[in-house]
Amino acid sequence: MSEIAAKKRIAFLTREIKAADAFYYQEDAPVMTDAAYDALRKELIALESEFPHLASKDSPTQTVGAKPSGKFGKIKHKVAMLSLDNAFTDEDVSDFVARVKRFLSMDETAKMSFTAEPKIDGLSAALRYEKGRLIRGATRGDGKVGEDVTKNLSTLATIPKTLKGEGWPDVLEVRGEVYIDHADFETMNAAQVEAGKEAYKNPRNAAAGSLRQIDPNITAQRPLKFFAYTWGEISAPISDTQMGAVERFAAWGFEVNDQMKRHDSAEQMIAHYHEIEEKRAGLGYDIDGVVYKVNDLSLQARLGFVSRAPRWAIAHKFPAEKAITKLEAIDVQVGRTGALTPVARLTPITVGGVVVSNATLHNEDEIQRLGVKPGDTVEIQRAGDVIPQVLRVVEDGGGKLTLLPHHCPICGAPAVRDVDKKTGRIDVVRRCTNGLSCPAQAIEGLKHFVSRRAFDIDGLGAKQVELFYQKGWVKEPADIFTLDFEQISKLEGFGETSAKNLKSAIEERKEIDFARALYALGIRHVGQGNSDLISKHFLSWGKMQTALIAAKDHMGEEWADLISIDGMGEAAGGSLVDFFNVEQNAKVIEKLLNHISVIDAQAPSSDSPVSGKTVVFTGKLEKFSRDEAKAKAQSLGAKVSGSVSAKTDILVAGPGAGSKLKKATELGIQTYTEDEWLDLIH
Ligand code: IVH
Repeated sequence: MSEIAAKKRIAFLTREIKAADAFYYQEDAPVMTDAAYDALRKELIALESEFPHLASKDSPTQTVGAKPSGKFGKIKHKVAMLSLDNAFTDEDVSDFVARVKRFLSMDETAKMSFTAEPKIDGLSAALRYEKGRLIRGATRGDGKVGEDVTKNLSTLATIPKTLKGEGWPDVLEVRGEVYIDHADFETMNAAQVEAGKEAYKNPRNAAAGSLRQIDPNITAQRPLKFFAYTWGEISAPISDTQMGAVERFAAWGFEVNDQMKRHDSAEQMIAHYHEIEEKRAGLGYDIDGVVYKVNDLSLQARLGFVSRAPRWAIAHKFPAEKAITKLEAIDVQVGRTGALTPVARLTPITVGGVVVSNATLHNEDEIQRLGVKPGDTVEIQRAGDVIPQVLRVVEDGGGKLTLLPHHCPICGAPAVRDVDKKTGRIDVVRRCTNGLSCPAQAIEGLKHFVSRRAFDIDGLGAKQVELFYQKGWVKEPADIFTLDFEQISKLEGFGETSAKNLKSAIEERKEIDFARALYALGIRHVGQGNSDLISKHFLSWGKMQTALIAAKDHMGEEWADLISIDGMGEAAGGSLVDFFNVEQNAKVIEKLLNHISVIDAQAPSSDSPVSGKTVVFTGKLEKFSRDEAKAKAQSLGAKVSGSVSAKTDILVAGPGAGSKLKKATELGIQTYTEDEWLDLIH
C-alpha cells in the first residue's frame, strides 16, 4: 500500500474504532460485533507497524486496552439470577404480605418478619468464592447465563479477594449490586469531559460501561463499588434468616447496606419505605425503591418462585419522575402483533437524568381520554426502564384532535378494533389485519425472533433484519437459515469476515432451547415466563404441538391440561392454541423446524417418586395451602391438573372431597390423604 493510501486508511480506521469505542464504553451499547471490531483493530495495528511514523500518539491502539480479548466468556449460573416483581402502592405491599401468608397457610394476623432495604440502581453481579478465595465473577446476563468479568470485578476495593473472618462454606456465591456513588460520578464525568470524551448519562450507565471494559486496567480506574445482598450456590447453609446471612457477608468483608431493617408487619415496612424515600436524595447513590424479603429462610424455600421472580420478595418502586414539555407530533407505529400505537414526539427534555423525546400514548382511547393534540404542552412521566407516558395536557396548543387511521400506515390494509365474540366488548387496540403480509408486522416479528432473549444471533440485529427483509432475503424465520453469505459479504458495511461470523453465529443457533424457540415466535401473552412454564410442562416441542392442535376448540382434556399450568393464565393458553391452529403459522413453524432442532426441556426433578405423574388435589388441605401443594408437586416434576380423568395418576383428597374422589375411585386411581402424600414426597 502506498503511504498516501495508508495514511487515509489509518485515519478511517482510527475514526471508526474511536466511534465504536465511544458507544461501547460510554453508552454500553456496542454498534458492531466483537469480530468486526477486532478486524478493524488488527488492520490498524498492522498498518501502524508497517508505517510507524504515521501512527499517532492518541491512536486507539495506544489508549484502549493493549490486548482486547474482544469478548467476555460466558458463565452459566448454577442458581438462576432472578428478577423481582414490583409493588407501586402501599396496598400492593399489604397484598404481598397477605399473599405470602395465604400461600403458607398462615393466619392473616400471624406475626411474620420481613427485611426491607434500598433497591440499588446499578447492575447485579455474582461472585464465586471457593475455600474463601474469589475465583469467578459474572454479570447477570439473561439470568441464566452471564458474562465472565472476573478480572474486572477483582479490581473493586469493596470486593474481597479473600474472605475475612471464618465460617464460610467451601463454595459461596455472593450476589449484589455494582454501582457508582454520586460524588464519584460527578468527578469521573468531569474528567471524561476534560479529556474530550462524552459524559455518561447517569451513574447506572457509567457503572455498566465501566464494568464491561475489555481492559480491566480501565475498570480499575473507575470508582465502582459493590453492595452484597443475596447469594447463589452455597455448599452449606449460611444462616436461618435473610438478616443473618447479610450480617455474615459483612463479617466476611463485604459492604452491606446500612438502611436494611427487619419488620413484623406491612405497616412497619411501608413506614420504612417512606423514611427511605425521604432520605433518598441524601443517600449519595441512586436507588429506585425498597426491596422486601421474607426473613425466615425456611419459609423462603417453601415459597419458592414463579417463573422469573421469587414469591418471597418484592420491589416497592418509587413513584415515577415527571416533567413538562411540548408534544410536537403524534406518529403511528405498527408492532409485531399489528397493533397501531400512537407515539408522542416530544421536545426533548431530561427526566430523572435521561433525555426523553418520545412517549407512548398507548391507544386511541387514551388520546381521547387525555384530549391530547399536537402542539399541546403536556406532563410526562418516566419510571425506571418503562417507556415514558403522557399524563395530562397542561396547556392547549389549539391543534386538531386526531385519532388513529383506519388503514395501516405501512401496508394500507384495513386496521380495525376487534369485537370479543363472547363479551361483545370492543378491543382498545386497533390492529392491522394483514398479518405477516404487512411489512411492519413481518419485520417486527423477525426482530423479535433474533432478539437477545430469543434466538440471540450475534451480528443479526434490527438493522440487518430490516435490510435483509427489504432485499427480499428474509421474509420469515426459516429464511435466516438459508441466507446466502457470499451475497452478504458483498454488501456495504459487511465484508467477508462479518459474513463468515454471521454464518457461524446462525449455525450455532440451529440447536435451540424449547423455551427460547417458543418465545421467539412472538405469540401474544407468551413471553419469556410463560414460554418457560410451557416448555417445562410439555418437555418436548412435538408433544406441545400435538396438544395445542387437539385443544383447538378451547375444550376437552388437552385444554384443561394446558390452563392448569401453574402461573399461566387463560389468555396465554387461548392465544397459544389459536396461534398453532392458524394454517399460515403452522406452515411458518414447519419450515423453521426443517432447519433447526429444538432441545427438549428438562423435567424439574426426575428422581422424585412423583416425577412425570399427573396429580389432582381435592377437598380441604390442612397443612398446606392449595397453591403451595401445587407448587411443591410441580417442583418435583409432577403435573397438577384440576380435573380427574383416565390420565390422572394420583388423587390427594382432604376432608370434604366429593365428586372428584368418587370419580377417581371408580377409575381405580391411587388416592392419598394429605399425610400419605407428604410421606410419599419426603
Ligand atoms: S434481591 C431473588 N436486593 O434488582 C431476588 N435485588 O429487579 C434477587 N437489586 O436483578 C434480588 N437492589 O439487580 C435484591 N437490595 C436488593 C437489590 C436488588 C437492587 C436489583 C438486582 C435485581 C433487580 C431485580
